[in-house]
Amino acid sequence: MPDDPISNDSTNPHFEQLLVASSTLSARRRRLLQLGLGSAALPFLGLPLRVAASAQPGMRFQPLAASSEDRVRVPEGYRVQMLYAWGDPVSDAPGFRGDAGNSAAEQAEQAGMHHDGMHFFPFVRHGQPSSTHGLLCVNHEYTDEGLLHPDGMADWSHAKMLKSQHAHGVSVIEVELAGSGRDLAWRVLRPSAYARRITARTPMRIDGPAAGAAAMRTRDDRRGNVVFGTLANCAMGVTPWGTYLSCEEHFNACFKGLDQPTAAQKRYGLRERGAGMRWHEHDRRFDVASEPNEANRFGWVVEIDPWNPASVPVKHTALGRFKHEGAMLTLAGDGRVVVYMGDDEAFEYLYKYVSRDRFDASRAGGSLLAIGTLHVARFGADGRGHWIALQHGQNGLTEANGFADQADILIRTRQAADLVGATKMDRPEWLAVHPGSGEVYCSLTNNRQRVDVDAANPRRGNVFGHIIRWREEGGDAAAGSFGWDIFVLGGDPQHADPEKRGNSRGDAFGSPDGLWFDRDGRLWIATDVSGSAMHRGDYARLGNNQLLVADVVSGEVRRFLTGPKGCEIAGPTATPDGRNLFINVQHPGELPGGRSDPTRPLAGSGWPASQFANVTGGRPRSATIVVRRDDGGIVGV
Ligand code: FEO
Ligand code: CA
Ligand code: CA
Ligand code: CA
Repeated sequence: MPDDPISNDSTNPHFEQLLVASSTLSARRRRLLQLGLGSAALPFLGLPLRVAASAQPGMRFQPLAASSEDRVRVPEGYRVQMLYAWGDPVSDAPGFRGDAGNSAAEQAEQAGMHHDGMHFFPFVRHGQPSSTHGLLCVNHEYTDEGLLHPDGMADWSHAKMLKSQHAHGVSVIEVELAGSGRDLAWRVLRPSAYARRITARTPMRIDGPAAGAAAMRTRDDRRGNVVFGTLANCAMGVTPWGTYLSCEEHFNACFKGLDQPTAAQKRYGLRERGAGMRWHEHDRRFDVASEPNEANRFGWVVEIDPWNPASVPVKHTALGRFKHEGAMLTLAGDGRVVVYMGDDEAFEYLYKYVSRDRFDASRAGGSLLAIGTLHVARFGADGRGHWIALQHGQNGLTEANGFADQADILIRTRQAADLVGATKMDRPEWLAVHPGSGEVYCSLTNNRQRVDVDAANPRRGNVFGHIIRWREEGGDAAAGSFGWDIFVLGGDPQHADPEKRGNSRGDAFGSPDGLWFDRDGRLWIATDVSGSAMHRGDYARLGNNQLLVADVVSGEVRRFLTGPKGCEIAGPTATPDGRNLFINVQHPGELPGGRSDPTRPLAGSGWPASQFANVTGGRPRSATIVVRRDDGGIVGV
């Protein structure tokens, strides 16, 4: 129930205690501070635990009406600025060409397409995390080939495939708030010693139980522990040792499967026709017939050290292989690392990883994401739930039942979860952990195919989605069981069908996707209504995709921002002081079919050039924007 009081018995250690407990506060402390004290990126940061959960943070801004305008709208007293759009250089590369004429090599040094999850890592100044200077890590989730090349996919070539691969991955950019008065604005620092693009071709290491397994070996990597690139980078996470986690979601879209895929390949959506990406025509890695194991090397969580541009990213197989939305990290009462993760597909599962070892502030991550136990959630009808270990030899995960070893379980995580009887959810998207109570919230974006309902997924043909939440037994994130309820059902209060009205107290919304808690415990909800559903049928009155703010104590929901046409809103995150909100506007102008017509690039939207005079247009561009209050106050209050 939305107005249930939140239990406030967490034993999670306070971040300051962790710092004080550490006797060596030199470089390591600096890195911890670089995470952003007071940001809710890690739920144990910055807030007095026993106060925050019962405090109502309050929202005084005037909520917006739904919008169909081709621009970003924010409440009165707020302003919005452009920061980093597709094609902008990360450092000193050439700028974006509005005719999509940038080469593949240029794209490798520019912002990728389809900005999604992100995090602000502050520099430390006078012992304090800065809220005016930091590194921004931005995920680039997928590409629209109709906009990426001047003539779309016509005359498909190696160069076009390269440009597409370079438009996936992650950006690391250095950003700063500079100027004064009306000219105060964020800018990307160029050149920057930290700036970096990680793409679908960047070498990375594989660790954890599946590293070196036979099913991970390819012609290019006979030892099964090095892979080129990350792709389909959706949501994210951050670690207490100052690194960024980027999550590989819809990776199967980049592969061409077999004419007759195996059962294991079908379970991961590897099909003959693929998604029409055609990478396989010029890179055999993406042709399952040619390189059957390459697809096993995607669908993981990737760790990136933004502070060391020469560092090699690591794919952590201990966290399982599926369509990872995000990886929300917190600490258990005893200091073990806990990572909550969703598999974004209808009827897929929710997972929790618990490390074997405890976090030690004087050391880096080490084995914490390499050695541990992955669990999957089962939600009971009685408001209780259980975490079932996906560990070889336990819960029926044996050789006799088709799982040779732990590597096999992790490479085929979905099948292991099937076998242990996990609860099939309505498309898990982002997760967020309340900074005070440790309660975990998860968006279940929608599932029109839902026929058999259960308590945790209670609506047939769930078109509007809902947000579920749970509190771990004893307030300990590593617990084996939890209590859960549904925080809010999305919907349209004016809908003729009572089941589709939802129960939002305040503004209507549907298809919740991005979730983020700010430092005061306000829950930010970003929506992703698909282009084929927006402005019609059930969604006729809900407008463009939007960003809302919820008070999790009262259940009140207010619409804070509306996006331009055809976009989804993604990636909300802020500076440690809460005064600068970074948001990603993903795929403005996306049309119901998905891929744009290269002869009419502006058919769906002219944003951001339509709103920002100094931005190169020619085609719509995903972009990072920054929202500030005119008076410089905390955003969302
Ligand atoms: Fe990448 Fe589930 O959105
Ligand atoms: Ca998403
Ligand atoms: Ca989307
Ligand atoms: Ca989505």
